[in-house]
Amino acid sequence: MPPAVISIAHLRKTYGATIAVDDVSLEVREGEIFGLIGPNGAGKTTTMECAQGSRAADGGVISVLGLDPQRDADALRQRIGVQHQEAHLQKRIKVWEAVDLWASLYKHTVDGDALLARLGLEGKRDTRFMNLSGGQKQRLFIALALIHEPTLVFLDELTTGLDPQARRAIWELVTDIRRRGATVFLTTHLMEEAERLCDRVAIIEHGRLIALGTPAELVRANCPVVRVVFTSESDGVAERMRRLPTAQAVVSQGSTHTISGEGDDFVTDVIHCIAGDGFRVSGFRTEIPTLEDVFLKLTGHGLRD
Ligand SMILES: Nc1ncnc2c1ncn2[C@@H]1O[C@H](COP(=O)(O)OP(=O)(O)OP(=O)(O)O)[C@@H](O)[C@H]1O
Ligand SMILES: [Mg+2]
Repeated sequence: MPPAVISIAHLRKTYGATIAVDDVSLEVREGEIFGLIGPNGAGKTTTMECAQGSRAADGGVISVLGLDPQRDADALRQRIGVQHQEAHLQKRIKVWEAVDLWASLYKHTVDGDALLARLGLEGKRDTRFMNLSGGQKQRLFIALALIHEPTLVFLDELTTGLDPQARRAIWELVTDIRRRGATVFLTTHLMEEAERLCDRVAIIEHGRLIALGTPAELVRANCPVVRVVFTSESDGVAERMRRLPTAQAVVSQGSTHTISGEGDDFVTDVIHCIAGDGFRVSGFRTEIPTLEDVFLKLTGHGLRD
């Protein structure tokens, strides 16, 4: 197992009477994309900022790249890249000026123009910040977070407010950061984003960690039932499905049949059965649970309720 680059043990943070983070423990391992997911106000940004050293915890122990984020803040700053949830730049600053300014803050930096090209901003060098689109601003913030070639990158709500196309482009950039050897710690309240992008996720709600694992592990552990839905006029198809050892339930509405079951072989078993018995089928789909379903199962409510 790769070593932990972030290790958080029993983190606690309060703001007056608000308990923002309550006994959170997790490890982010070298080379992974780790996502902290949860609804608004869950404590994601607070947890991330404590790990970056920009907020002091009230309790618990944090180690990042072997450093104490509070005590070793200056050393840590040279090695981590940070994109903030509510980042702003002076509106008239030009893209190349922002890159130069950021580069001046670090001892070791990469070539700014090459970095802009990598993020698809080569044509925007002379554009003012206020004239960039939302997706271009986000890409600029990623560029600024990468200017000093950090080994660990923090991305807080990177794609909030972007359209699906811009979001996908950003996902590719994040995957590229990892491909180049860096570790990514991100937050999102988009379960689909977490599912597509993250090797492992931690689900946080009301400051408490409620689940941790790979998206597939969390789905398998909490929502193992898969449904196959198809339409068939053939006689006896529902009875035949009921005899499948991996099928748990068969519900038929007219000629539409919904078969529920568990296990790695279930969907294949249904397909074999349909093909083997020569049933004529029109329309066939599977309903595989997602992290959204896991969240619903664990909390009793949807992410945006
Ligand atoms: N500076 C602050 N002062 C007082 N309360 C704060 C402060 N920052 C955050 N909080 C509170 O702490 C809790 C956790 O906030 P946090 O910003 O960590 O949540 P989040 O999961 O990042 O939410 P979002 O998805 O909206 O970004 C919330 O109840 C919030 O109101
Ligand atoms: Mg936040």
